[in-house]
Amino acid sequence: MKVINVVGARPNFMKIAPIIRAIETYNNSYHLSPITIHQLIVHTGQHYDYEMSKVFFEDLELPEPDIYLGVGSGTHAEQTGKVMIEFERVLFKEKPDLVIVVGDVNSTFACALAASKIDYSKESGANSKVDTIKGEQISVSNPANSINAMNAMNARGYRPLIAHVEAGLRSFDRTMPEEINRLLTDQISDFLFTPSPDANENLKKEGIPEEKIFLVGNVMVDSLLYNLEKAKKSTILRKLGLQKELPTANCLLPTAYCLLTLHRPSNVDDKDAFLRIINALREISKRIPFIFPIHPRTRKQIETFGLSSYFVYHDFKPINQTNQINQRNKKNQRNQTNQTNRINLINPLGYLDFLNLMMHSKFVMTDSGGIQEETTVLGIPCLTLRDTTERPITISQGTNVLVWNDTQKIIDEAFKVLDGKGKKGSLPELWDGNAAERIVEVLLKE
Ligand code: UD1
Repeated sequence: MKVINVVGARPNFMKIAPIIRAIETYNNSYHLSPITIHQLIVHTGQHYDYEMSKVFFEDLELPEPDIYLGVGSGTHAEQTGKVMIEFERVLFKEKPDLVIVVGDVNSTFACALAASKIDYSKESGANSKVDTIKGEQISVSNPANSINAMNAMNARGYRPLIAHVEAGLRSFDRTMPEEINRLLTDQISDFLFTPSPDANENLKKEGIPEEKIFLVGNVMVDSLLYNLEKAKKSTILRKLGLQKELPTANCLLPTAYCLLTLHRPSNVDDKDAFLRIINALREISKRIPFIFPIHPRTRKQIETFGLSSYFVYHDFKPINQTNQINQRNKKNQRNQTNQTNRINLINPLGYLDFLNLMMHSKFVMTDSGGIQEETTVLGIPCLTLRDTTERPITISQGTNVLVWNDTQKIIDEAFKVLDGKGKKGSLPELWDGNAAERIVEVLLKE
């Protein structure tokens, strides 16, 4: 059986890593089995900076991508369209039996859509323009290797089956590009692997046949648990000066800080929304400093909106623009009270450093999806800067509270945490580190 694992953007890497490992483990343990799984990694290149992509391959010990599409940034249509065109070429060349897509980014939907419409028997003869990083490609698979039981679904000709991992999550907010990606990917997938029972319910309500839906648990949690010990060894606290000495015990303790991430268009592309959040940060920073690893989109918006004076930049590459910002900041800081320079911007972090910062934080504020889950697993209070979540189980069972960009609500909830009244949660069922194994089991059975 030949499988293509698709990744494109930062949150994909930690979701695909355990699946790749589980497939490897299967191949190594069952080498006499009639089915060997040949797997390839296709990286669309949606995220391309070292800090947004390569460092995750290193931290997660992911093999180098076999094929890199290099699509880069663009409007949603440009990005989705470019991924589809390039991925279709890969599909014609490699003819996989199965395509695995994870999460909800543009690359997820684009690759699922290309796979759902392709007909291997009608190859156009288009030349592939894709770069092959490793050089050697595994030979084109034999159509007879396809997953037999599901072949009936290939009604329109011979195409790969599509597995969507993290299926069924819904925010019910169609202004979110990810919600559109989630809805559409689920509609065209053959295997829908869900992380929680609410996702199964959503899919059933949308008319997805039950036999396609498999509750397997959370692959993001697989990665977290697998890497926890390694993450504990990260030296990021020391690098950022976030440790204080406890003389009586002769040891170093983390200082109290709040870890912040922010990149959703609804928060950072709208200046008023962004300012409402900044006003809350300024108030909260009187009691606790923020560590804010900054997404490139947010960094750009801070500069565009002229909001740099609210932040202190650390660690940035010595590019001219950054130097100018720091010069401006120095001038501004002289006129500001202390609290404003307690919102500390740092470069985006790798997986292990970020996990380390998260596990030692007093609480986390974020508009990310995955971080809501990770904080629930780590038992760290999470204030989510959104008005909806596609991960309601992190609220009903976990440590998550929605605060949107409502200045007063953000402050109130943060102060609750600081006063020792933060939310305590429990671990959802099947978030046990074995979701990827369950996925491979299902794929082999079907
Ligand atoms: C994407 C996902 C989002 C996910 C986020 C995690 C979609 C629709 N959105 O959003 O769900 O939470 O990734 O990061 O797929 N850029 C760089 N370097 C990079 C990548 C991006 O500078 O390596 C800049 C570009 O200017 C780009 C902007 O960031 O225009 C946004 O990148 P994009 O991939 O379009 O969306 P994200 O906001 O990262």
